[in-house]
Amino acid sequence: MRFLLLLVLPLFVRGESPKMFGYVASPNFPQGYPENVDQSWELRVPSGFAIHLTLVHLDIEMSEGCSFDALNVSTDDELLATLCGEKDYEALRVEVNPKLQSQFGSLTLSFRSDYSNPKRHIGFSAYYTAVDIDECEETATCSHDCNNYIGGYYCSCQPEYFLQEDNSTCSVNCSGQIFTSLSGSVSSPILNGHYPENSACVYQLEVDEGFQLIIGFTGIFDIEGEDGNCIDQLRIRAKNQIFGPFCGKVAPQPIKTNSHVAEILFNTNGYGTNTGWTLDYKTNAKTCPNVVTANSVMKPDQKVYQYKDIVTVTCSKGFEIVKNGVTKFQFESKCQKNGEWSNVEICQAVECGEPNDMENAITDFNETTYKATVRYKCNDYYELSSNNTSDTFCSADGTWVTNGIESELPICIPVCGKSNLMSSVQRIFGGKKANEGNIPWQVFFMEPRGGGSLISDQWVLTAAHVAEAETLKMYAGRINTNGPEGVELHAAEKIIHPNYEIHSSKPQYNYDNDIALIKLDEKVKLGPQISPICLPKNKQSDELQNGKIGLIAGWGVTEERRLAQDLMYAEIPVENMDFCKSVKPKSSKVKPEKFIFTENMFCAGMSGTDSCQGDSGGAFAVPDMNTDDYHIEGIISWGIGCGSYGVYTKVANYLGWIEDTMLQNQD
Ligand SMILES: *[C@@H]1O[C@H](CO)[C@@H](O)[C@H](O)[C@H]1NC(C)=O
Ligand SMILES: *[C@@H]1O[C@H](CO)[C@@H](O)[C@H](O)[C@H]1NC(C)=O
Ligand SMILES: *[C@@H]1O[C@H](CO)[C@@H](O)[C@H](O)[C@H]1NC(C)=O
Ligand SMILES: *[C@@H]1O[C@H](CO)[C@@H](O)[C@H](O)[C@H]1NC(C)=O
Ligand SMILES: *[C@@H]1O[C@H](CO)[C@@H](O)[C@H](O)[C@H]1NC(C)=O
Ligand SMILES: *[C@@H]1O[C@H](CO)[C@@H](O)[C@H](O)[C@H]1NC(C)=O
Repeated sequence: MRFLLLLVLPLFVRGESPKMFGYVASPNFPQGYPENVDQSWELRVPSGFAIHLTLVHLDIEMSEGCSFDALNVSTDDELLATLCGEKDYEALRVEVNPKLQSQFGSLTLSFRSDYSNPKRHIGFSAYYTAVDIDECEETATCSHDCNNYIGGYYCSCQPEYFLQEDNSTCSVNCSGQIFTSLSGSVSSPILNGHYPENSACVYQLEVDEGFQLIIGFTGIFDIEGEDGNCIDQLRIRAKNQIFGPFCGKVAPQPIKTNSHVAEILFNTNGYGTNTGWTLDYKTNAKTCPNVVTANSVMKPDQKVYQYKDIVTVTCSKGFEIVKNGVTKFQFESKCQKNGEWSNVEICQAVECGEPNDMENAITDFNETTYKATVRYKCNDYYELSSNNTSDTFCSADGTWVTNGIESELPICIPVCGKSNLMSSVQRIFGGKKANEGNIPWQVFFMEPRGGGSLISDQWVLTAAHVAEAETLKMYAGRINTNGPEGVELHAAEKIIHPNYEIHSSKPQYNYDNDIALIKLDEKVKLGPQISPICLPKNKQSDELQNGKIGLIAGWGVTEERRLAQDLMYAEIPVENMDFCKSVKPKSSKVKPEKFIFTENMFCAGMSGTDSCQGDSGGAFAVPDMNTDDYHIEGIISWGIGCGSYGVYTKVANYLGWIEDTMLQNQD
């Protein structure tokens, strides 16, 4: 039983520790092997060695294909030989043994016999030895040189290369270099005309903060790969940005890194004969923005400002720096290494403040800073004093400027000379009742009975002999002497022409300079029924040629020989003074030859149409040829009698006096 059991179990000799040599033989050698053997041997030698098996005896039952009894020799699952039959030592030596070598450190023998052996066979015997493997020939992966030794090998590298930690790859130590000067050049390592394989080069560029690296490629450029499919590659890393990978034969465009630190990474694989690359780097000082602050100019004026540049910033015209209540216009700023300007201040628009209100106008403005505009719009019945008046601007000095004149406002002056009478073509001789607005400048003097003319909203022009009365009671806008239309005017000042001779005795013969100005205590509100008449345009008026028609009005004595209740008006021509001189007085007390005629007077009238007592002080109004606006050429002054010709004060002669007087007495 014991024997049988042995036969059934296959016998394995496994896990034997490696030996440099050993002996192995079939069971029961040399007495002959038993039936039903199934045994294997795993022969092992130290690593770095192969096993060579040398059969000394071989006597195994011969069968077709060794199908009965057989010895298999295999290594790493590769069957080296299936043996049976009988071979002498010489045959074994020549035919069999040379085949029996393992690739590595183990060799497996399997021996099997069947149940019947007609003849006794002694089996096999063999010894094995460890033989050196030449790994350099077989398996070694040295990137450069391979060196075999008994039981192993080692890799070694050519000059300039060193062996990496995998003990087989040779590469160049191209890392660790740091470039700190402001410009320079870096090249790939070159050995034997090309860059080394298996390299991972890292070059550091590190210049002062405040500078920026610009990398250009001027020399050779030849890296394995093309069109972005890089086998070897050059990359540049700066500020979390990677430029590349670059390869091929076309050098990349210059690279602005915007950084003062960059890493040049060059990786190569195991093969290739490309030449490599050279780069030149330079530095730009970091640039600052072209504008330190808005609304300013910088000196010096440069296209580019860089680290350490200093500029003087001056606010543009109309802008200023206000800080802690202090105003200034300039500051110095320095381009810092972070690319920002130092101590930036803000140039803000100059403030003009609220514009003054203007009398008789609406003030329209939206802003009050430099270049802001104020638009004054005169109320109805007023107009701007000069027709070139433009808007008022906030100037760079912080003042409001009109027509180039600082702090000056345009003035709204009353529109003058407007009458709602039909055009002067419709000449009506003889007194006619006036309607409201026909003669809006007409002032009714209730005391003394007479007339006057508004020449502004605060001045009345009348005859001196009217104004000389002690009390004055005046109305503007009045048509009927009993009212109620119009407003009462109150004199603040009364200025009689200084050359007018005041007479106490009647009749008065000298009416030279019969002109007076009355300043009202307040401005009269203008409207369709009350508005001034224009002054004559100039002193040398040619308006008073004979035949020139003027409009006269008043509440004076009419043909019916009594004072009128309604305002009457008439249009009369200027006539030669002789007409006035030749009028016959009605009263014998009046001595016509005693009357004084001067250049300050003119004569106007016609038979049946004249001014008379009670009309004194009113205007002889002439419409402008172009505009139809009435201007006052004369003041009804005196006459030798009523009903034909009267004498008028020639207002043009007093234009200077009127303007000066009004100016000197303005509020
Ligand atoms: C030897 O190898 C052959 C072919 O693989 C196989 O048929 C035979 O059974 C093997 N003999 C032994 C003893 O392992
Ligand atoms: C390289 O060789 C050293 C010493 O010869 C050994 O300690 C190390 O394990 C080896 N490295 C590799 C990756 O085989
Ligand atoms: C590579 O060079 C750097 C400096 O040049 C050195 O510190 C480093 O040890 C070197 N490495 C090898 C593996 O030689
Ligand atoms: C103020 O703003 C209004 C509305 O935009 C505009 O109509 C007006 O002309 C402005 N006034 C000035 C003086 O610019
Ligand atoms: C107003 O303008 C006209 C033409 O533009 C000019 O002839 C006239 O003299 C101006 N008048 C004043 C008062 O500026
Ligand atoms: C506008 O009128 C003023 C006087 O009112 C004068 O000094 C100025 O020169 C005039 N400007 C123009 C552009 O006519």
